[in-house]
Amino acid sequence: MNLLVVGGTRGIGRQLVDQALASGHSVTALARHPERLALEHERLRKVQGDILDAQSLSGALGEPLSAANPFADVLALRLI
Ligand SMILES: NC(=O)c1ccc[n+]([C@@H]2O[C@H](COP(=O)([O-])OP(=O)(O)OC[C@H]3O[C@@H](n4cnc5c(N)ncnc54)[C@H](OP(=O)(O)O)[C@@H]3O)[C@@H](O)[C@H]2O)c1
Repeated sequence: MNLLVVGGTRGIGRQLVDQALASGHSVTALARHPERLALEHERLRKVQGDILDAQSLSGALGEPLSAANPFADVLALRLI
């Protein structure tokens, strides 16, 4: 599956990123400071954005997040 993990750079979200990659999924890790995620992986994409800012999200992800056009199979929220 394609997973979007909001807050994937540390804490619980980071654990989720590790487990998802280990399980063979493709992961987009979204955070305001994605460079803080030192992990590199062929199925990992790091994206800069703020979940509270819709404009920053659509710009960062490249397409709208909606039920009609979902960016990810699963949206995993780990936040603030
Ligand atoms: N750790 C626990 O044991 C525990 C237990 C129960 C509940 N919780 C709750 O679970 C949540 C996450 O906990 P955590 O320990 O994993 O927190 P954390 O270590 O502070 O990680 C938060 C993650 O969310 C990102 N983030 C924060 N604001 C964001 C925003 N506006 N847009 C995009 N990404 C954002 C952060 O990256 P950037 O700063 O780069 O954006 C970081 O990757 C919190 O609400 C906490 O209260 C935690």
